[in-house]
Amino acid sequence: MMANLVIDADLGQHKISRHIYGHFAEHLGRCIYDGIWVGEDSAIPNTRGIRQDAVEALRKIRIPNLRWPGGCFADEYHWKNGIGPREKRPSSVNSYWGQVTESNHFGTHEFLDLCEQLACEPYICGNVGSGTVSEMQEWVEYLTFDGESDLADLRRKNGRAEPWKISFWGVGNENWGCGGKMRPEYYADLYRRYQNALHDFGKNRLFRIACGAYEADYQWTEVLMREAAEQMNGLSLHYYTILGTWQEKGSATQFGEDEWFATLKKSMFMDEIVQKHGTIMDKYDPDKRVGLVVDEWGTWHDAEAGTNEKFLYQQNTLRDALAAGLTLNIFNCHCDRVKMANIAQTVNVLQAMVLTKDEKMIVTPTYHVFGMFAVHQDATLLPLNMSSTEYSHGDESISALNASASRDADGLIHISLCNLNPNNAMDLKCELRGAKPTRVSGQILTAAEMNAYNTFENPEAVKPAAFDCARLDGEDVVLEQPPKSIVVLEIAE
Ligand code: AHR
Repeated sequence: MMANLVIDADLGQHKISRHIYGHFAEHLGRCIYDGIWVGEDSAIPNTRGIRQDAVEALRKIRIPNLRWPGGCFADEYHWKNGIGPREKRPSSVNSYWGQVTESNHFGTHEFLDLCEQLACEPYICGNVGSGTVSEMQEWVEYLTFDGESDLADLRRKNGRAEPWKISFWGVGNENWGCGGKMRPEYYADLYRRYQNALHDFGKNRLFRIACGAYEADYQWTEVLMREAAEQMNGLSLHYYTILGTWQEKGSATQFGEDEWFATLKKSMFMDEIVQKHGTIMDKYDPDKRVGLVVDEWGTWHDAEAGTNEKFLYQQNTLRDALAAGLTLNIFNCHCDRVKMANIAQTVNVLQAMVLTKDEKMIVTPTYHVFGMFAVHQDATLLPLNMSSTEYSHGDESISALNASASRDADGLIHISLCNLNPNNAMDLKCELRGAKPTRVSGQILTAAEMNAYNTFENPEAVKPAAFDCARLDGEDVVLEQPPKSIVVLEIAE
């Protein structure tokens, strides 16, 4: 099978924001408690209660931002429960996620300590579903006001003298669903009112993100852009790759080619919805000032047998890695509009980077994709044209190869390639117009089985390896990409 890729190496215009490579950590199942927060007295190595192995792993993939505290949890979160001496904090019920007791031991200060340990930017999602305008307003003052006020003094009393720098601020989560079952017209008015009360104190500048649509709900985007585009910096979008029904989505690890194909085809739908929401946004915002923020995305399978189904713990195979790779390629290619994205979720929930079991921690195939693709962070997107053969299964087909390319600050060109076909290798000729390549090297992520995954017993079943099958042929790069693989090439001039 043969494919051709033409890259305009001298025509890059748009920057791929590093924030496209963002993450999401909700108070859900074992994401925060166990996965991130173990407490200062834990035998698990920790820094001020935050587990060191998870921080170290996430720093390695250059996590740029972290969204918190939810998700649906954010729609019922009252931030004042999560400040002050831990033993005095009230407990509450995590109603959406198993009705378990929320100790509030991980709150504002702990989250911002986590972000400092990760060297990433916080993305806080405020409560519109059940919170008040003044509650959200006061949170911003508590966090970012440097002067004299009861709230700023309370922050100092709780151990933080300097205000934090907070940029990304979500005004509600899924307000068409768990965040209030609102109509877009009603939420658009509420959005205007809430955002108006969020002040930029001192030098702090909030990047205000309005709640956006789920999947292909274009009417939501139309109304929000029509009524409130001027008041927002970003508009969110949520889309999960789900097979079957909510009751039976299918196993994360036991599947055949039908499910492999269906998952990748559904993941490719992201391209269509990003384009169509983008077209509506263009109508009201032709200069693309408002970013599309895909702040929840990823694969959603049945919870692992024997675990609490409300905790959404799932394993993560090579199939999830391909879904992540092709989605990140889609975001890169639309980086003129997509300014940020957050895969769901960081640890122990849905398409996680990291899984933990007591003191053990493993990284997933999806984690490795984020590591390999980190070269695109803040690089300049290079336009490309791919003519690939189709990967057909049954009566359906999708393009077998999927790619994006960028040039980084040192002038290196990176091309990320996903071969979605689990059966056939792909010969690729890559023409780099406007470049004179002198060296090519690469990394590959693949495995013998399409459902290969890492376990606590065998943590390195799926991991990247050096890829030495790409070579220069004159000024072209040629390679044979193995079936069901992700390759990231580095090309120097
Ligand atoms: O990520 C899990 C849940 O999915 C989030 O809480 C919610 O926003 C979405 O429906």
